Amino acid sequence: MDRANRHHVCRKYGEHAINRLTAARAGLNQDDRVLDIGCGSGSVLRAAAEFATKGDLIGVDPTPAMIRISQTESADHPDFARMRLLLGGAEALPLPDNRVTVCWAIKHCTIGRILRWAWQKLIGV
Ligand SMILES: C[S@@+](CC[C@H](N)C(=O)[O-])C[C@H]1O[C@@H](n2cnc3c(N)ncnc32)[C@H](O)[C@@H]1O
Repeated sequence: MDRANRHHVCRKYGEHAINRLTAARAGLNQDDRVLDIGCGSGSVLRAAAEFATKGDLIGVDPTPAMIRISQTESADHPDFARMRLLLGGAEALPLPDNRVTVCWAIKHCTIGRILRWAWQKLIGV
């Protein structure tokens, strides 16, 4: 994917206000080791770097193109050395147990399925 297309994808799908809000409202401590499941372009992890100023910033995504985009988009970030952007899905995380202290998955199809299941359980729709 060339630079123009990459920026288009990131602007359209990765730089939403909710991404920054997720990092800002997560109550991160400076030492937190953050995992973003389905990290996409990596924008939430880059925002999290401002709050978790010392811990690891780990993103996993099963789509190789998204991992490449997240790596390219993050390469110039001052905290890139603390970032690990890994190919993998929620079903089999490529990490050992107890590796992280904070984890989220946002704007994710799995969340949609979980919410639908919760709606069905809670209000019988
Ligand atoms: C709509 S994008 C959101 C990306 C990012 N969370 C954000 O908010 O900018 C959904 C992402 O979830 C990833 N994804 C799809 N299935 C997944 C799974 N089983 N485990 C983890 N990530 C998954 C996709 O590759 C895609 O990058």
